[in-house]
Amino acid sequence: MAVDGVETVLVGTWAGLGELFAAERGRLDVLNTPLVHDLFGRTLFNLTADHHGEARRRLRPVLSGRALPGYVPSLLEVIAPATGRWALHGTEDLHGQVRELTGAMSSRVLLGIAPGDADAVTFVAAFEEFVAATGAPPGPARYTDRRYWAGRSARRELHALFARRATQAADVNRAGPGGSALAGLVAAFADAPAEVGPLADHLLALLIAARETTASLLTWCLVELAGNREHAELAAAEARAVSADRDRLVARDGLPVLRAVLAESLRLHSPNLLSMREAVCPVTLGGHRIEAGTRVAYSPSAGHFDPETFPRPLAFRPGRFLAGQASRSRLWAFGGGAHACLGRPLAELMALTVMACVLQRGLPRLPDGPPTRITFRPAKAPTDPLPFALDQEPPS
Ligand code: HEM
Repeated sequence: MAVDGVETVLVGTWAGLGELFAAERGRLDVLNTPLVHDLFGRTLFNLTADHHGEARRRLRPVLSGRALPGYVPSLLEVIAPATGRWALHGTEDLHGQVRELTGAMSSRVLLGIAPGDADAVTFVAAFEEFVAATGAPPGPARYTDRRYWAGRSARRELHALFARRATQAADVNRAGPGGSALAGLVAAFADAPAEVGPLADHLLALLIAARETTASLLTWCLVELAGNREHAELAAAEARAVSADRDRLVARDGLPVLRAVLAESLRLHSPNLLSMREAVCPVTLGGHRIEAGTRVAYSPSAGHFDPETFPRPLAFRPGRFLAGQASRSRLWAFGGGAHACLGRPLAELMALTVMACVLQRGLPRLPDGPPTRITFRPAKAPTDPLPFALDQEPPS
């Protein structure tokens, strides 16, 4: 089928994606345009083979496992003022607010930039300019596009800011915990060979990969809970327990209801529409030979609506993940294989923390009803501003 006007092999079904991921290494590269190569340099999704694996090996420990509890206080510091405002005044644009919050959480955790920090404004302005450049034409026509040149300049500005923050992070680390991944990332890349790419390139990619996806997940969690009072009340009861015991946010089995809400939202509203690959040598998938140079695509939601695996697949039923009727391993929302999402643990921590803070304040409501128009790129989101409010629960 044609994807963006180019003939592409689309891989479907849960099992099909499993086969794709198993066959991927050395045979399928992430398909990135010259624009993406220019803007992102030697970052993960532009690297191949051993260099790619080596960069992942260096990044992973700082984004998962034992590193996560250290980020909880920083996340709460960023989230509390935002959810406090939503509780008092609601918002006219849920997704816009959630995007802003996700950007603030990511820059706090990845760069150590607190909202009131002098670098916060500089960072947001340069980052938006950089993001706008990703909308420039993908090929040679990019050179005639103003956004491309503004994005290149923003990239230089961001790299300089990262270098400055990295020096500060090292200092803060000597004085005490900074609640940011930056010092760990600097240490992890201190002796990295040039082929695995500079940390600045990886930081930009992490910031980009984190924002639209996590904002999408949060938006749909809140939209679904607004339409399902019973689940919202159950999740709110669990959220209140987090105030007394923050460790639940990072404990694997700490928040079963909230984790089930996340899983069911990812199933129904997978943030990413399509991921693209290019065959670098002939490869066989589902019994079909695919020639070198062919484009291959997968949708992370392949299999998410299979009624055999998920009965009543169009219904929002987080309980299916609680009662053991459905397994999270049947979801590909975070991809799989060589390029599986490296930020998944952090994304889940950010989403759980926001959901807990929101539900401690009240139950979600959409005064004008659910979104009627939806966009799918860069991630699934309401097209139009979506009014949102939090109703205080009557005291029990
Ligand atoms: C709900 C939130 C998120 C979702 C649904 C999501 C989804 C995905 C998917 C589907 C892929 C695979 C893309 C492909 O196959 O080409 C991916 C890759 C990636 N994600 Fe995420 N992501 C999320 C959040 C994050 C966060 C918070 C970070 C960083 C802190 C992050 C960093 C990355 C990186 C670096 C890659 C590329 C890995 C590689 O090429 O080796 N993601 N993500």
